Amino acid sequence: MSNIFAVILAAGQGTRMKSKLYKVLHPVCGKPMVQHVVDHIQTLDVNRIVTVVGHGAEKVQQQLGDKSEYVLQAEQLGTAHAVQQAEGILGNEEGTTIVVCGDTPLIRPETMQALFEHHQAKNAKATILTAIAENPTGYGRILRGENGQVEQIVEQKDASVEQQLVKEINTGTYCFDNKLLFETLKLVKNDNAQGEYYLPDVIEILQKQGDIVEAYVTDDFEETLGVNDRVALAQAEALMRARINEKHMRNGVTIIHPETTYISADAVIGSDTVIQPGCMIEGATVIGEDCNIGPNAQIADSRIGDRTTVHSSVVRESAIAEDTAIGPFAHIRPLSDIGSHVKIGNFVEVKKSKLGNDTKVSHLSYIGDAEIGSNVNIGCGSITVNYDGKNKFKTIIEDDVFVGCNTNLVAPVKVGKGSFIAAGSTITKEVPEDALAIARARQENKPNYVSKLNSK
Ligand code: UD1
Ligand code: MG
Repeated sequence: MSNIFAVILAAGQGTRMKSKLYKVLHPVCGKPMVQHVVDHIQTLDVNRIVTVVGHGAEKVQQQLGDKSEYVLQAEQLGTAHAVQQAEGILGNEEGTTIVVCGDTPLIRPETMQALFEHHQAKNAKATILTAIAENPTGYGRILRGENGQVEQIVEQKDASVEQQLVKEINTGTYCFDNKLLFETLKLVKNDNAQGEYYLPDVIEILQKQGDIVEAYVTDDFEETLGVNDRVALAQAEALMRARINEKHMRNGVTIIHPETTYISADAVIGSDTVIQPGCMIEGATVIGEDCNIGPNAQIADSRIGDRTTVHSSVVRESAIAEDTAIGPFAHIRPLSDIGSHVKIGNFVEVKKSKLGNDTKVSHLSYIGDAEIGSNVNIGCGSITVNYDGKNKFKTIIEDDVFVGCNTNLVAPVKVGKGSFIAAGSTITKEVPEDALAIARARQENKPNYVSKLNSK
């Protein structure tokens, strides 16, 4: 099979976004648009991916890392000029080059593949991915000759009133014969409304030269949405969200109310898990099978084991094993590692702590910088006092400990295996294994004191 290369255009500022963030870095379902594009391209059998960067070059490179090679377009003189920057890398290669815009995150790999196959089958020198738009405003229009042959693409700003009526649009994705592309780019001029070198002009030049120019029409306009402003960003978000939710439902996940369920593009969810309304599942979260998530749970970059429930709670950058119950109203902060058959109940905050299997923290506690063994019971209102205003200290609680209600564990401190802490204690010293620790003022009762006081 012949070589395939990809050029991704990502150098624009994105003026219409009115944003400090560069356009292609705006997230759609939690993932920057340009990352979606690169991830899609990567599923095709491409030899090299070259991303054209300019505005925010460093940030774009940081985002994509070694998934792509980069060329700099120091001045944004148009999409043709952008592609030209890749000549140093691709100019001498034989093969087909797919050009994709960094602001079209919804174009499916299957559609790109179909475009490529059409291009091959027709022996074309250039093939445009087009779509029929109900409202084509803003897109380049495809002008066809009498025999239906693609002749030219005219940009919105250059189109006559009549041309503006054309509903077939340029999606900004193309296949080109690689060498011919770079030769033809040299012929593109900038005598148009925006004074830019337009990549679509390559089509007209090739057509006039007598080269085979084709269009592959996808029947799904929505996937070709180009995100130029925040209105389109919200549309892309909604479309991507629906697509992701549908994928999970087809894989055996129950989503009670897809309209209020927000799942990141990279999340993995096991079958027979039920997602209740109002959930956000973000980043690279992995959720097991038979879990019950929500209502109203936010889980980011975490691993949740099989049969675990997370009810009305926030979980970030943490691991929770199987058969565990979180919430309602718990907050699991980063770097927590929670075992199986654990219960973390309402108004419990856990931060950077390890909890062993069968441990229970059922109500109103703060557990920070702690290492807690298995089968430990932390009574209501107990707190690890981990911070002295300058530094953080560790609390270690070994297996089978019972911590009575309203205990302060002043770290650094260790509580030995099988020990028991009386309710209301403030523990400042190590508790030995198997000991009972009581650290509170003794109760004193003054008989009849109140009536005496009242009779004065
Ligand atoms: C472009 C197409 C239009 C098509 C639409 C599809 C041109 C001239 N127009 O318009 O026909 O219907 O996409 O969404 O190509 N970029 C650079 N360097 C530049 C200019 C742009 O890298 O000098 C990048 C941008 O970052 C963006 C992409 O190219 O990712 C497209 O540019 P944009 O300004 O969004 O073009 P559109 O007006 O959407
Ligand atoms: Mg655009």
